[in-house]
Amino acid sequence: MKSAAVVLAGLLVLAAYYVYLPLPSTVSDPWHLMLLDASFRVAQKTCNLAHSLGLGHHLRLLNFVICSFDKLNTQSSEKVKITDIQFDGVEVRVYEPSTGGREKTLRRGVVYVHGGGWALASARGGYYNNLCLIMAESLDAVIVSIEYRLMPNVHFPVQFEDVLHATKHFMRPEVLAQYSVDPSRVAISGDSAGGNLAAAVCQEMSQEENITNRFKLQALIYPVLQSFDFNTPSYQQNEVTAILPRFIMVKFWIYYLNGSYDFAYSMVANNHTALDVSQVGPFREHLDWTFLLPSRFRKNYQPVTPSAGEAEIIQALPALLDVRAAPLLAEREVLRLQPKTYILTCEIDILRDDGLMYAKRLEKAGVEVTVDHFEDCFHGCMIFTTWPTDFSAGHRTRDSYIKWLSQNL
Ligand SMILES: *[C@@H]1O[C@H](CO)[C@@H](O)[C@H](O)[C@H]1NC(C)=O
Ligand SMILES: *[C@@H]1O[C@H](CO)[C@@H](O)[C@H](O)[C@H]1NC(C)=O
Ligand SMILES: *[C@@H]1O[C@H](CO)[C@@H](O)[C@H](O)[C@H]1NC(C)=O
Repeated sequence: MKSAAVVLAGLLVLAAYYVYLPLPSTVSDPWHLMLLDASFRVAQKTCNLAHSLGLGHHLRLLNFVICSFDKLNTQSSEKVKITDIQFDGVEVRVYEPSTGGREKTLRRGVVYVHGGGWALASARGGYYNNLCLIMAESLDAVIVSIEYRLMPNVHFPVQFEDVLHATKHFMRPEVLAQYSVDPSRVAISGDSAGGNLAAAVCQEMSQEENITNRFKLQALIYPVLQSFDFNTPSYQQNEVTAILPRFIMVKFWIYYLNGSYDFAYSMVANNHTALDVSQVGPFREHLDWTFLLPSRFRKNYQPVTPSAGEAEIIQALPALLDVRAAPLLAEREVLRLQPKTYILTCEIDILRDDGLMYAKRLEKAGVEVTVDHFEDCFHGCMIFTTWPTDFSAGHRTRDSYIKWLSQNL
């Protein structure tokens, strides 16, 4: 009996050690977040182990685990009709609010691109389904949620192209008319890797001459926008924080660009963009955070710019400098063409500065930008609004995002 109690106590200490993660004192729901993070880490480690035993690709296994969990919470609504169809060969899920007898009125529209490191989650899973349902209801808008293909089945630029093709199809005048969408009131939006794809597709479409309808807005939720500098103040400050530590993000990038994980340690040290790597020079000023970030975000962090690095990384992964992968690298002439923009950022997020720098560059190019910063929130929080992953951070960010869309779209 006594020994059982000792073993149990030992296991509890081990579990607490595993679950415990130093988080800033400002974070809301810290213990709940630690549990979520520990569960996510256990799932990732188990899938990595299964991968090394030859049981399947770790990303495919992890997505299976996430999607199985995600199915538990799928809601439906009598007020919104949901249809799964293809737009130009790409799977999409369309949410149409019921007309309530007002057949003739044109509605607003939102193209939504889900997050998950270009590898995880699904437009049809509970998290994103519930988000889009609430958006359709509260905005009385048609929402198109894109089920683009994921890693490891496809890599860059396939995810980008899937989103581009589906979006272009939806924006055709006859398709908007079919869904009773007002062509002058359509937004593109997405979170995390979905924010990356939304921003990149928005840039691409802003430059195409033959497009009849353009976006009124873009709304980016803690977007991933660059792989040039993994030592921005937010990357340094949140290096080992919950949900998305730096090393995992770097691996998602490498995998998106179909490279080798062997580069990960060098890239964490910014060796891929060192001063002696000549190709990167022209891009450096586009993400010079020493003048793009206000001092309250820079704090006392110092830039990491090695004088000698490894030029072979950019040679192996030229897409590190491709604006379709890293929209923050775009030239001012392209930024100038972007629609009114909303960017949501969280303090406890390595990607905070990706969003803040994009906001500043868009503003300098003359675009109207709203930055909605949450001091006590963490990366990925906006989808966590239902039990057992119900966070006040989720409700507050989601409400604020939908409110902005409602007032501006
Ligand atoms: C734009 O439309 C014109 C006329 O229809 C056509 O000649 C041209 O190839 C199109 N350009 C692109 C980029 O599709
Ligand atoms: C990804 O890289 C592997 C190994 O270098 C290569 O065999 C494969 O064709 C690449 N896939 C794509 C889609 O480029
Ligand atoms: C970065 O590159 C330098 C010069 O090639 C090398 O000495 C150093 O070990 C590299 N750092 C990492 C973390 O790989």
